[in-house]
Amino acid sequence: MSDKKNNNENEVTEAQIAVHWKEEEYFEPPKDFSAQANIKDNSIFNRFKEENFPNCFSEYANMLDWYKKWDTILDSSNPPFYKWFVGGKINASYNCIDRHLAVYKNKTAIHFVPEPENEDIQHMTYQELYVKVNEFAAMLKDYGLKAGDTVTLHMPMIPELAVTMLACARIGVIHSQVFSGFSGKACAERIVDAKSKFLITADAYYRGGNLIDHKEKADIACSTAEKEGHKVEHVLIWERYHNTYSAATPLVGNRDIIINDTIKLYRNKKVEPERLNADDTLFLMYTSGTTGKPKGAQHSIGGYLSYVTGTSKYIQDIKPEDVYWCMADIGWITGHSYIVYGPLALAASSVIFEGVPTHPDAGRPWRVAEELGVNIFHTSPTAIRALRRVGPNEPAKYNYHFKHMTTVGEPIEPTVWKWYYEFVGKKEAAIVDTYWQTETGGFLCSTIPGIHKMKPGSAGPGVPGIYPIVFDEEGKVLPAGSGKAGNICIKNPWPGRMLTIWGDDERFVNQYYKRYNTNPQSKDWKDWPYFAGDGAVEAPDGYFRILGRIDDVINVAGHRLGTKELESAVLMVEEVGEAAVVPVHDSIKGILPHVFASLKPGFKNNDEIEEKIINMLNSEIGPIAKPGKVWIVPDMPKTRSGKIMRRVLGAIASKQNVGDITTLANPQVVEEIQKQS
Ligand code: WTA
Repeated sequence: MSDKKNNNENEVTEAQIAVHWKEEEYFEPPKDFSAQANIKDNSIFNRFKEENFPNCFSEYANMLDWYKKWDTILDSSNPPFYKWFVGGKINASYNCIDRHLAVYKNKTAIHFVPEPENEDIQHMTYQELYVKVNEFAAMLKDYGLKAGDTVTLHMPMIPELAVTMLACARIGVIHSQVFSGFSGKACAERIVDAKSKFLITADAYYRGGNLIDHKEKADIACSTAEKEGHKVEHVLIWERYHNTYSAATPLVGNRDIIINDTIKLYRNKKVEPERLNADDTLFLMYTSGTTGKPKGAQHSIGGYLSYVTGTSKYIQDIKPEDVYWCMADIGWITGHSYIVYGPLALAASSVIFEGVPTHPDAGRPWRVAEELGVNIFHTSPTAIRALRRVGPNEPAKYNYHFKHMTTVGEPIEPTVWKWYYEFVGKKEAAIVDTYWQTETGGFLCSTIPGIHKMKPGSAGPGVPGIYPIVFDEEGKVLPAGSGKAGNICIKNPWPGRMLTIWGDDERFVNQYYKRYNTNPQSKDWKDWPYFAGDGAVEAPDGYFRILGRIDDVINVAGHRLGTKELESAVLMVEEVGEAAVVPVHDSIKGILPHVFASLKPGFKNNDEIEEKIINMLNSEIGPIAKPGKVWIVPDMPKTRSGKIMRRVLGAIASKQNVGDITTLANPQVVEEIQKQS
């Protein structure tokens, strides 16, 4: 066995095992990028140093237009419930639209890229967005909606989603967008929790080559909600093809309204933006927690908008002249913060893409980038892995140039990062690996793209004004370079953080603040570190490497292994395209990792591949990482947003019921994999 350091399991401490991705080499940001960056010099570190907290965040709030400036920057008198920019009056719709009209009314706000390539890309200027948002806001008002009401949106990636959000924001209605890939039942659960009397949806949308009937989900959502004692009064429906109803599902009497018909009554109507309190609620975004019930992260107007605008400018490096494309879905927080609110507040042109990145082939994103001249690109490691697997040489065929690229949402394996850098970015782009959560509103950790060196697989230091800290189980600080993994927390409040969990303050405190608070009576924010629920390690350079959810950590014979670390090693095997590792109970060792791997095109399964994977895990991590079983599978079960469903793989490996798989993009693969057990 070649690995010397790990050949005696008993000599290896738990913490050492938890941290074995090798330290990667640095990559300098491209000089051309740094020369044009919004942040070019180190004075930012001084402006946002701890001594300047919380006043440093006025720099972000000052990027916005306020009807009335705030009196108090941070009211922290009742931790962990914080209010930012108290006394300030503001409107998010005004900041994302109206204030740009004087200079940019004829500039594209939204490029809509329909999935079918024979449909032209649609370009909506800021003036057109202004007109549409006003008309829809006028219509919503006429239906009796007013500031403080909630509405649930269940909309696909069409420009009307952004129009709807901004129309709600204009009149102070709290929107709660549910990812369109969720089922009608899942939507109902969120409608009931938010107490929405209105559901705004679409008739149909394209996905993977098919025009999907989406309206049928609204019917299921309404009937399910009704069974739970909650009545949806109106379903407002946008048409995918204007003036053509594309769903097979019939309309329901007085309940269902086709927006495209009714809105004609509001042609060119204008609605004054409401002057709202900075700490009023802009939207809810439901996310899964440790229990089955999803929780509604409740985000503010002034704090949230300041934070996503500031980070869009400094970390995404957005300028009004940029063509910015984030391939996430607006149904997730990434799309709210970094497709709609942040980029539009900065007057950028933001791309909304309806389809699947690898449909009809892995060249699609690069054709879009070429056609629109996209220069800032933002996506997830899952999408990058999929594109790398199916079309590793596709980017070279297209003439696009990115100055900046982002990854978000999961740890990215260094091998995958390097492909992104070299092949997608053509070595011309600065890359940021942004670590954050639905609850945090915006980025927590990332390099500053024009200044910091990049390190594959590492999110980087805390972004300006964020002071992360890693605690061990007992609450002892694990400093930079300790080589030990612990729980990442944020020491201070910040404006992008959710106000609370909708309707459940207690869960908010318990989930995010109880873990490391030593004095529940304390009124000092310093006693209330935000507990993110992720394992992390801080390298000597102060960069944080995120090891994944605490609940993703596999405890093999009492030793911790991050699933991501195992997957990273498996991906280093030449033939492997995608890898997922799940914990499976073992009567001797407690838990054993099972490895699921799918192969790159052109490779066939044979016994050698399994052996190579086992050897790679052994040499990269050590004998402790020996998997209970290696499954070579035709494809991974994936959600419609592209995330590998580890839960389903875990159930298959444990020979348990796989549960509801109707939301999968490829449910048929489950049976194929089950045959191998
Ligand atoms: C994970 C997505 C590693 C993390 C914005 C977090 C990441 C969860 C990264 C939140 C990253 C997010 N590196 N892990 N750059 N970004 N995560 O709420 O486990 O959908 O807790 O927000 O994704 O997922 P959420």
